[in-house]
Amino acid sequence: MESTNNNRGFSSNLGAILAATGGAIGLGNIWRFPYTVGENGGGAFILLYIAFVFLLGVPVMMSEIIIGRRSQKNVIGAFRTLAPQHKGWISMGVLSLVAALVIYSFYSVVAGWTLNYIVLSSSGQLIGKMPAEISQMFADFTHGSFWPLFYQFVFLCLTAGIIILGVQKGIEKYTKILMPILLVLMILMCIRSLTLDGARQGIDFLFKPDFSKITGNSILEALGQALFSLSIGMGALITYGSYIQKQDNLFTTSLWIAGADTFIAILSGVAIFPAVFAFGLSPASGPSLVYEVLPNVFNSMPGGTIFAVGFFVLLTIAALTSTISLLEVPVLWAVEELHWGRRKAALLISLAVFIIGAFCALSFGPLNHVTIFGLTIFGLCDHLTAIYMMPIGALLFTLFIGWYLPKADVYDELSNSGQLKARYFRVYYFIVRYIAPLALLNILIAGILS
Ligand code: PFF
Repeated sequence: MESTNNNRGFSSNLGAILAATGGAIGLGNIWRFPYTVGENGGGAFILLYIAFVFLLGVPVMMSEIIIGRRSQKNVIGAFRTLAPQHKGWISMGVLSLVAALVIYSFYSVVAGWTLNYIVLSSSGQLIGKMPAEISQMFADFTHGSFWPLFYQFVFLCLTAGIIILGVQKGIEKYTKILMPILLVLMILMCIRSLTLDGARQGIDFLFKPDFSKITGNSILEALGQALFSLSIGMGALITYGSYIQKQDNLFTTSLWIAGADTFIAILSGVAIFPAVFAFGLSPASGPSLVYEVLPNVFNSMPGGTIFAVGFFVLLTIAALTSTISLLEVPVLWAVEELHWGRRKAALLISLAVFIIGAFCALSFGPLNHVTIFGLTIFGLCDHLTAIYMMPIGALLFTLFIGWYLPKADVYDELSNSGQLKARYFRVYYFIVRYIAPLALLNILIAGILS
C-alpha cells in the first residue's frame, strides 16, 4: 500500500529513535570508525570524537531534525515551507538531495562487498588461507567488474524493497527487527574478542589516551567522522525529522541517537582491536581493516567461521538500515514534489544510483586509471561529500536555525509548544548560533586547504 500524507510518519517515538539510530549506525561505525581510530592513535582520538559528538553533533542534529519536524516536508519542501520569501534556502535542499545520492552511490559499493563476504565466509572460502591470499582475494574481488556490480545491485534492490513498503510497514518495521539483532551480534563479537588471549593490548590501545598522538589532522578527522556517523548535513535527518511525531521530545530523541551511535562505534572497537592485537596484526590498516585483516583473525580463532559470518551479517544489517535512510531522502522528495508513487520513485532513483554507483565500484578495477584531481571516482565521491557537502550542509542548517528561523519558533519546536521545559535551550541556542557555525567553518576551510 502506498503511504499517504494522512498516515505520514513513524508510529511511535521508539520507532523514530530506532529508525534514525539505524540510519546513523552503519559502515561508518563498524568499518570506518575502527580504522580511523587505528590511524589516529587510539584512545585520545576517541575522547575527542565523543566531545565532538555531544557538544557539536547533538545540537546540529537537533537543528536538522527541527527543520524536518516543523515543516513536515521533504528536503526541498521543508525550505519552501519555512522560508517562503527567501527561495535561496531551497538550494540547501538541492545540496542535500545531491549529497544523499552521491553518498548512496559509493556507500552501496562497500555495502555490496559485505554481502560478498557473507558468501565467502559461510561457504568456507576464507578458511585456512594465509594473510597474503586473503589480501589477494580482496584485491581480486574489488578489482573485478561483475561481482562488485552484482552485489551492489542486490543491495540496492534490498533497500528499494523496504522503501517501497512505506515508512511504517517498511522502514520502521524492519529497523525494529534489525537493530536488536545487530546489538546481540555485536555483543557476541565483543565477548569473543575479549576472551582471546592477548586481548588486553587492544583494550589499552582503545581506552588509554595518549594525547601526544593528536594532531591538527586528527581533529579534522574526528569531526568529519562525527558528521558522517551521525548522518548530519545531507537531509537524512530532515527527512526522518518530518516523520517524528509532534509530542516527541527532540532533545532526548537526539541524545538517544547520538548515544547509541557512539556506543556501537565503541563496541566495534572492542570487537575488533583486541582480536587484531591478539593475532599480532596492525590496527592502522586503513579501509581494508575489516575485509583484509579481520578474516585472518577469524581464521585463527576457535569457532572463527561462525563469528566471521556473524560479523559480516552484522555489517550488512548496519549498512542496510543506513541505505534505507539515504534512499528515503530522494524518494520522499519525488513523492511529495513530483507526485510519483513510492514504488516508481524507489525504483527509478535506485536505477540512477546504480548507474553512478557502477562508476564508483569499477573505479577499484577497470576504471582505476580514471582520476579526477588525483582521486579515483570512488575517492572523489567520498571526498566531495565528506570534505565539502556534509560540512557545508551542517553549517547552513545551523545558520538557518540560529540566524534565520525566529527564535520563538525554534523554542516552540524544542518545547513542543511549551509542554516541555527545555531548560537547556539557552546553551543549545548559543552553540547553534555561534560555536557550531564557527567550528564548522573552521573545519570546512581546513578541509579545503588540506
Ligand atoms: N551514518 C552512516 C554511517 O555511519 O555509516 C552513513 C550515512 C547514512 C551518512 C545516511 C549519511 C546518511 F544520510
